[in-house]
Amino acid sequence: MKLSLRPVALALTLAAAGPAGALEITLPVEQVRLADSPLPGAALAGALCYTCHSAEYVLYQPTSSRTYWKATVTKMQKTFAAPIPDDAIDPIVDYLVKLYGTETPPAPAPARPAAPAPGGVPPK
Ligand code: HEC
Repeated sequence: MKLSLRPVALALTLAAAGPAGALEITLPVEQVRLADSPLPGAALAGALCYTCHSAEYVLYQPTSSRTYWKATVTKMQKTFAAPIPDDAIDPIVDYLVKLYGTETPPAPAPARPAAPAPGGVPPK
């Protein structure tokens, strides 16, 4: 059912582009970042966890255990084929469980993520 609607939606999108034919889409600038930390997993997560989705996927999880974060990072690697080296998993899990999980972060406390820009889309 859903699939059969797609060509219609595409045709409407193309028609809406008008005679010029160029449809310009400006995506909002991504401003959400994982918290800084001296833990080695912070840099690894920053390098490996933004390629497919926003850092909000991590920020919006409930405060969870090491077991949960290990299962989640392993799922990213095995199920979703994220290019995460095996030896990066434990440091990333350690960082996530201490900053976004049930274990204690190293001092100082994690910074809050930046608020999204008002309206989301930057002015032209
Ligand atoms: C290869 C792409 C890819 C990379 C890289 C990736 N993810 Fe994901 N992630 C996904 C997909 C696909 C989903 C599921 C999206 C959905 O269900 O809408 C997801 C979902 C999530 C979720 C939501 C909870 C869940 O279990 O679905 C969390 C948390 C998450 N990712 C964390 C991470 C972390 C942490 C990293 C870095 C270690 C990471 N992701 C790297 C593809 C990726």
